[in-house]
Amino acid sequence: MDFYNNKNITIFSHPLIKHKISLLRDRESSTNKFRQLVEEIAMLEAYEALKDLPLKDVEVETPLETCMTPMIDGLKLAIIPVLRAGLGMVPGIEALVPSARIGHIGMYRDEKTHKPVTYFCKLPQNIDKRISIIVDPMLATGGSAVDAVSMLKEKGAVKIKFVCILAAPEGLEKLATEHPDVQIYVGQLDRCLNKDAYICPGLGDAGDRIFGTK
Ligand code: PRP
Ligand code: URA
Repeated sequence: MDFYNNKNITIFSHPLIKHKISLLRDRESSTNKFRQLVEEIAMLEAYEALKDLPLKDVEVETPLETCMTPMIDGLKLAIIPVLRAGLGMVPGIEALVPSARIGHIGMYRDEKTHKPVTYFCKLPQNIDKRISIIVDPMLATGGSAVDAVSMLKEKGAVKIKFVCILAAPEGLEKLATEHPDVQIYVGQLDRCLNKDAYICPGLGDAGDRIFGTK
């Protein structure tokens, strides 16, 4: 698949995103530093990923006169982190869109099969009328992302974006093939998966590094 010419896939080239991802990869980066970087990268990615939000002109009274001026239209955006690691991306996006509603999808990868196991799903009301932005730093085999999008669609969501920090080619292809209507945003496309389905060169286990659990 030609990722770079797929209109629904954006692979970021901004130097700030690239620089911060390199710092994130460093095994010496502390938990504190890692968490801060994940937040910052999420904010930069979301700024770009939300550039097509719909606008509507509303009337505003300035100190000088009344004017029609654009504001974001529709129901509040839904940010949906895939637990646990997706949680680390939420504060950076919330800083841009403080009124966003937050849903949660709980999933972990089975260590042997590498298949996702879902244990929780709680979404904002009227998800069918909102733009949903699923966040998870890692798109590895793509199993978790595909299931998270499917779950959101089952609950009625129609306008879905998926934002990650690192992707493996295998996972990106799987997500783009199984959900061609979803807009996918990737901080950096990495080389491959290893035999344990970890992204290489990658950054290790994102959840453990964000929460300091290993
Ligand atoms: C990681 C990551 C994704 C998933 C990606 O979560 O945050 O959700 O793996 O892998 P996949 O593309 O092969 O499905 P993990 O299962 O490690 O759970 P955690 O966030 O709770 O650590
Ligand atoms: N999950 C992670 O946290 N890291 C990987 O490299 C793959 C899946």
